[in-house]
Amino acid sequence: MIKKIFETLIYNSLTKRIADYYRNTLQIDFQKNHLLNEIYKQTSNETYEYFKSNLSTSLHFLTRRKIREYSISKVLENYSNEDLFIECGVFEGESINLFAKELKKKNIIIHGFDSFEGFDDNWKGSSLAKNFFNKDGQLPKVLSNVRLYKGRVQDTFKSFIEKNNKKIKFLHLDMDLYEPTNYVLKNIKKNLDINSYILMDDFSNYPGWKNGPFKALEENIPKDTYEIEGFGIFRSSSVLIRINKLV
Ligand SMILES: C[S@@+](CC[C@H](N)C(=O)[O-])C[C@H]1O[C@@H](n2cnc3c(N)ncnc32)[C@H](O)[C@@H]1O
Repeated sequence: MIKKIFETLIYNSLTKRIADYYRNTLQIDFQKNHLLNEIYKQTSNETYEYFKSNLSTSLHFLTRRKIREYSISKVLENYSNEDLFIECGVFEGESINLFAKELKKKNIIIHGFDSFEGFDDNWKGSSLAKNFFNKDGQLPKVLSNVRLYKGRVQDTFKSFIEKNNKKIKFLHLDMDLYEPTNYVLKNIKKNLDINSYILMDDFSNYPGWKNGPFKALEENIPKDTYEIEGFGIFRSSSVLIRINKLV
């Protein structure tokens, strides 16, 4: 009797809540034969097939936080006071503050770009539609060594890089969509140097990854000028690339 009450009142509602959390937030569904499972199996296979040689030569990270922590520690091994540190796609400031915390110890500024109005198009091949991440233009709380530039990167980035025409040491690209990522990559080519690092989020392992930031990288940075130093082994994974040749 007590077991029955426990199952009905607590166990069932708890498992339902956990399943809902996975389904709605992490977009994982445990239901057998669910279409979502099939889609993710396919995208994982595609990602694996495409990157299997890189996977055997790169470091693997099981979480976003880990690849971010590694990236910022790596760039700080060797930098010049003139170098630029940039993030495109700030949202609520979680990642930029993580980087800024480490950079602050060395008195380094990080520049963050975001419209704070979310996507200006649907993120095709995902469940996130136009306007997702919209903060109504409101800036997040950031550490004192962060400089924020509000607006679409297509309107703000070019003038910034023309005024600050220095070498980029670290660029974090986290705008999810192809267009803004492509725009930034197009405009930073001359600012890349040997050992510049680019951390790209939402790089692979989700439906549509081949038309996202991955495509922007392919179109702008020749494959033989960089190596994949870190690879995120998680859904909508990240990649850390190190420039090793100038064009
Ligand atoms: C995934 S969120 C960034 C998350 C953040 N890097 C973090 O991990 O804490 C993506 C952000 O990209 C921004 N974004 C998307 N397209 C943009 C564009 N064309 N110009 C500027 N920001 C854009 C959105 O407003 C949103 O805040």
